[in-house]
Amino acid sequence: MAKSENQLRDEILDLVAQYQKVKFAPKAFTPGKSPVRYAGRVFDEKELVALVDSSLDFWLTAGRFTEEFESELANWMDLEYTMLVNSGSSANLLALTALTSPLLGDKRLLPGDEIIAVAAGFPTTVNPIIQNGLVPVFVDVDLGTYNASLEQVKKAVGPKTRGIFLAHTLGNPYDAEAFADLAEKQDLYFIEDCCDALGSVYKGRKTGTFGHVTTFSFYPAHHITLGEGGAVGTNDDTIAKAIKSLRDWGRDCYCSSGENNTCGKRFTGQYGTLPAGYDHKYVYSHIGYNLKATDMQAAIGVEQLKKLPEFCQARKENFKQWYTGFKRWEAFFILPKALPGADPAWFAFPVTLKENAGFTRTELTDYLSSKLIETRNLFAGNILRQPGYLDINHRVVGDLTNTDTIMNHTFFLGTYPGLNLEQIEFVLAEIQAFLDLKV
Ligand SMILES: Cc1ncc(COP(=O)(O)O)c(C=O)c1O
Repeated sequence: MAKSENQLRDEILDLVAQYQKVKFAPKAFTPGKSPVRYAGRVFDEKELVALVDSSLDFWLTAGRFTEEFESELANWMDLEYTMLVNSGSSANLLALTALTSPLLGDKRLLPGDEIIAVAAGFPTTVNPIIQNGLVPVFVDVDLGTYNASLEQVKKAVGPKTRGIFLAHTLGNPYDAEAFADLAEKQDLYFIEDCCDALGSVYKGRKTGTFGHVTTFSFYPAHHITLGEGGAVGTNDDTIAKAIKSLRDWGRDCYCSSGENNTCGKRFTGQYGTLPAGYDHKYVYSHIGYNLKATDMQAAIGVEQLKKLPEFCQARKENFKQWYTGFKRWEAFFILPKALPGADPAWFAFPVTLKENAGFTRTELTDYLSSKLIETRNLFAGNILRQPGYLDINHRVVGDLTNTDTIMNHTFFLGTYPGLNLEQIEFVLAEIQAFLDLKV
């Protein structure tokens, strides 16, 4: 007798689970021969089964897994809305562009308005400011926290300031409560880039719950991965509406994919100067994009989200191991520090070489690389020195001395859950060997 659809599906998924265990069986670590990565995907058979399960639906675009992922992420974050997109960069673009929406009336951001930002970070936290014709106003950051302080941000507020758009650097929370308070008093928008900070907590609240809008990235280096992916979160109905419209081609219609006439007036509305009854499916209330993700990405995300608490715990523990190991070298390195009340789910372990350390960052990272140990710089360093940014319209308040120090002397090691104590001890021993050679 021919097998039923369900039987076949069960058999396929069972085989996929078996395959995952063979194909991705853990490999023994051989010091100096196996790489020590700074980040990577951490998954088991559940992610691969979910991915194939969704591919067997062949729904492809947003569907049952997207709905589940968005609702589980919103629950976990305690946010009213979270919207899945195809990257953290897209999430940042949507978060800021939504604040230019005509739906916000007088409160919308307009070209020339200023947004407070930092130059030490990832480019796509800054890019949406430029892409929307707004003006980034850069402030310096502190060494150790790698975030701007309240004093630095306060000094940058001027008559044209309309917003604050900052990433919690490498998962380390800035004073989000104070920034939210400042934003409220000065009538500013506050956007939290939590691409590296999913699961970090500040004063008992998750980062991403303080601002008007927040963003996440699910690229493989991040706390959970969908391969490519990101999300935008908000508690504000109007902002959420603008984000969805901008994500989905700019359309006014909000039917889920495969649905029609959810609003009940598909052929009876009057929009712009279109003829009465023009099909609502093709009415565009924003100049939008298509930044949606697929249901296959969401399927992986549903399983990854279940692992998020243990992932965050592992990141904290790895950070602690690094910290304990580096403590003896404080003469050479500025160690990372968190604000009082912060409980970071660290994206990485950043260190800055002190002046007169007796060696350069490149000497050290090159040495580590020769032992297959990965390190990374703090992303763009000073973004204003990047070739693509030399001519951008911007202001700097104060100077960017620490930002330049970061560009020249900071690097980070990984904290991701795939890292284990044996690897960390090997790296620490290699750093000691390097120091023995150099100083
Ligand atoms: C702080 C920050 N914002 C935004 C992004 C962009 O995310 P994505 O790579 O998913 O576009 C990154 C990427 O790593 C990031 O670190």
